[in-house]
Amino acid sequence: MTGDFRCSRRGFLTAGSLLTAGALAGCTSVPSATGVSVHAFDRPLSIPPLAQSRLEGGVRIFELTVRFGETSFSPATADGTMTRTLGYNGDFLGPTLRAERGEKVVVSIRNQLDDTTSVHWHGMHLPARMDGGPHQEIAPGGTWEPEWTIDQPAATLWYHPHPHGRTEEQVYHGLAGLFLLDDDVSLGADLPRDYGIDDIPVIVMDKSFDDDGQLELHDDGGEPGMLGDTVLVNGSICPLFEVSRERLRLRLLNGSTARSYDFGLGESAMTLIATDGGFLDEPLPIDSIRLAPGERAEVIATFTPGQTLRLHSAKVDLGAVAAPFAMGGNDAFDVLEFRAAADLGSSPEPAWASSEHAEKDRLHESEASVERRFELDERTINGRTMDMSRVDDVIQVGATEIWTVRNNLPMPHSFHIHDVQFRLLDIDGTAPAEYLAGPKDTMYLEPKRDYRLLLRFTDYTDPHVPYMYHCHMLLHEDEGMMGQFLVVGPGQVPSTRIDGAEPGGIAGTGQHSGHH
Ligand code: C2O
Ligand code: CU
Ligand code: CU
Repeated sequence: MTGDFRCSRRGFLTAGSLLTAGALAGCTSVPSATGVSVHAFDRPLSIPPLAQSRLEGGVRIFELTVRFGETSFSPATADGTMTRTLGYNGDFLGPTLRAERGEKVVVSIRNQLDDTTSVHWHGMHLPARMDGGPHQEIAPGGTWEPEWTIDQPAATLWYHPHPHGRTEEQVYHGLAGLFLLDDDVSLGADLPRDYGIDDIPVIVMDKSFDDDGQLELHDDGGEPGMLGDTVLVNGSICPLFEVSRERLRLRLLNGSTARSYDFGLGESAMTLIATDGGFLDEPLPIDSIRLAPGERAEVIATFTPGQTLRLHSAKVDLGAVAAPFAMGGNDAFDVLEFRAAADLGSSPEPAWASSEHAEKDRLHESEASVERRFELDERTINGRTMDMSRVDDVIQVGATEIWTVRNNLPMPHSFHIHDVQFRLLDIDGTAPAEYLAGPKDTMYLEPKRDYRLLLRFTDYTDPHVPYMYHCHMLLHEDEGMMGQFLVVGPGQVPSTRIDGAEPGGIAGTGQHSGHH
């Protein structure tokens, strides 16, 4: 152990009572039966920098270098200890990319690791060969330069590696960042928009450290995968954010490998404005929101002068899982403290007007012409584990589809689909809670329930390069809970096997030069 800050093993007991009794007791790690050690929330919340970009001929060009880093995780590790990490353009995590609908973007990526990686744009609508999935691997020392046009509503998306079988390890060591999209709706809305001031990224991850203060990815075969005992926000432990405006927009991302959270602000209500793929129809007051790995939410928190609030994760309802305590379901802990100044800049009530686009793009169940069913078991989807060369589904562009997704086992699973945002129609025939009714690309699946998803692949046909669907619990994903689909147009003949589908190589993956 690196000190008595952390508990020694995964949390079986909640210390929520200990904490809430004393109101603002101090920063805790995820509590364990052995007790909770306490440290004040006094580390300034780190804010990932906005990525620099340059415009060339109307194209917005970003550069990302995937590299080794060294990071201090004090007070979870002893003072002076540097932890080996991975990052984009820095030691840990990556810069926040930001672009507007209609812009053409290029991301010029260099891999300085000694391992193959890829960079996937989670939630992004883009051609399969630009998607950064397991078929677009970047060899050590290699480069990749995908380009596409942003063509979807404003949203909080993210990027992370997706190499076949090794995603968990790379994400866990720090490879993740946000990709924010704006459009006329978001730019015209009455919403906080000053990045780092009242528009705040909140990337939550749980980690464990070994005796040397290095990140530990213990795989003891337990479900749903590794649960860490230390919670990080944007890489900060025991973080404090000094609030200077009446309202904050929090962009919550669960960037953990396995842990789900139930985020709330204690007594104080918050307003949900957006889920994975963009705005809800209208602001929705909520007490808390469950987020499984990969899911996002934008919430507005409102402060009074001098107020202290904590973002808290309560015991999370994982549905009918066996032994929820062993899956993190009983853990309750504080995540991030906000301290409001004595004088707060005023900010408007959250409001936005939905666009013509949104009306036109709205999907209707009555238009669905294709139904598919996906059953998730221990490490399989529809009885199969991932095969890089197998085509699991072929989808006709433009068809409106209903996917019924079911988690057959009493363990946590989630379901993520590349390229689209879907709508949850119902769960076991019942309309979903409002917070689940917005645009989504990742859905937590409570065991033994039918989730019906409505979706449509609108363009970017490619008969040879697939997109993925998979469980977003990263161990499950790595161990094969993934399938591949092609989106084809009229007259296109889909590949029956994906050629060159070995880690490290597929022809025509969007490698190209230019813009330099
Ligand atoms: Cu966030 Cu296929 O992943
Ligand atoms: Cu994705
Ligand atoms: Cu799973």
